[in-house]
Amino acid sequence: MPGIRGPSDYSREPTRHPSLQINAKEPFNAEPPRSALITSYVTPVEYFYKRNHGPIPIVDDIDRYSVSVTGVIGNSKELFMKDIWKLPKYNVAATLQCAGNRRTAMSKTRTVKGVGWDVAAIGNAVWGGAKLADVLELIGIPKYTCSTQSGGKHVEFVSIDKCKEENGGPYKASIPLLQATDPEADVLLAYEMNGETLNRDHGYPLRVVVPGVIGARSVKWIESINIISEECQGFFMQKDYKMFPPRVNWDNIDWSTRRPQMDFPVQCVICSLEDVNVVKNGKSDLLTHQGIFLTRWFPSSVKITIKGYAVSGGGRGIERVDVSVDGGKTWVEASRFQKYGSSYIADDDSKSDKWAWVFFETEAEIPWSAEIVAKAVDSAANVQPEKVEDVWNLRGILNTSWHRVHVQIGHSNM
Ligand code: MTE
Repeated sequence: MPGIRGPSDYSREPTRHPSLQINAKEPFNAEPPRSALITSYVTPVEYFYKRNHGPIPIVDDIDRYSVSVTGVIGNSKELFMKDIWKLPKYNVAATLQCAGNRRTAMSKTRTVKGVGWDVAAIGNAVWGGAKLADVLELIGIPKYTCSTQSGGKHVEFVSIDKCKEENGGPYKASIPLLQATDPEADVLLAYEMNGETLNRDHGYPLRVVVPGVIGARSVKWIESINIISEECQGFFMQKDYKMFPPRVNWDNIDWSTRRPQMDFPVQCVICSLEDVNVVKNGKSDLLTHQGIFLTRWFPSSVKITIKGYAVSGGGRGIERVDVSVDGGKTWVEASRFQKYGSSYIADDDSKSDKWAWVFFETEAEIPWSAEIVAKAVDSAANVQPEKVEDVWNLRGILNTSWHRVHVQIGHSNM
């Protein structure tokens, strides 16, 4: 394609924020510290996780860059940025979450394949761009179409980057045509992120954003959009990002038995605490009548703030977040909010951002040692599974088990 290049090496990668934790260097995969996620509802671009399967493409001539729209339709079309910019622009707040978020924790149960991620392969951005439904109308596909006359049922997005999983070919994925042509599904061809031109890491000049769906379907650096009769046959749709039961291993796997994962399940994570925390406190020394010094800890409990994110797929809101400080025996309900000063009500589009995460917060008095647990319930009453073992799968995706962290009260010199 004119104006855009998919480099075959990593010599011209963008500069990134030094606080990112790098999980793989080439291709570049990194996430921010978990505490950074809860400092703002809209995740700053530099802290937004970066998930790549190949080198970052370079667009050196934006005027010549174009996307071809082809497939089982009468007339194909070449769309330039000026054509996309002419369409009505929408700003959609949507949380993007990699299906591999929390994979490292899953791999502690049993080994899984894939880049390790802590809890921050997720971010919430305001994406600016044209609705895919409007773009498809330009080639004669009306809104709310599930099948075209010539049998088109899926919309495939093909990128320019070169991935080893595709034997050097481009990254690609598809979504159903009905979702693509439904303006309420808010699928975007985005050229802005948080009010700024999309940067190279996140898909400059144009990427797809499929709200409520695992990040893998939000294809970056798109080169073509194809209307196809079967879903995309690419590696990342057919041989990856599928959820298998715990009994399936690399010897007995049959990829064709499962559908590609689309919506992500309900998830929540505590971000104000690391996995293991020592909370500093005072100490006093006691002299016993045998002349021995004993150390006494006081007081025997501390107050801590427990804060994090909760999100569900498919546009479902967060109905409740439960927090426990005794390993899941008893629970309190945390408060939920998106923006300070406006109340959050699940599934009320006039008050809440439907596709975006919700922060939760509560304060709790904890004894000298505590296991703190959080679990969310979405507006369809889906609840996170208790144990990671129950959702373990060989690719390590969708670890949505109860999030647990440990706190120990230590003395001020620790
Ligand atoms: N698109 C292309 N072209 N190449 C990729 O490697 N990675 C996908 C998706 N789109 C990918 C892609 C995955 S797995 C995720 S989770 C998101 O992009 C990550 O988007 P981000 O890097 O902007 O956070």
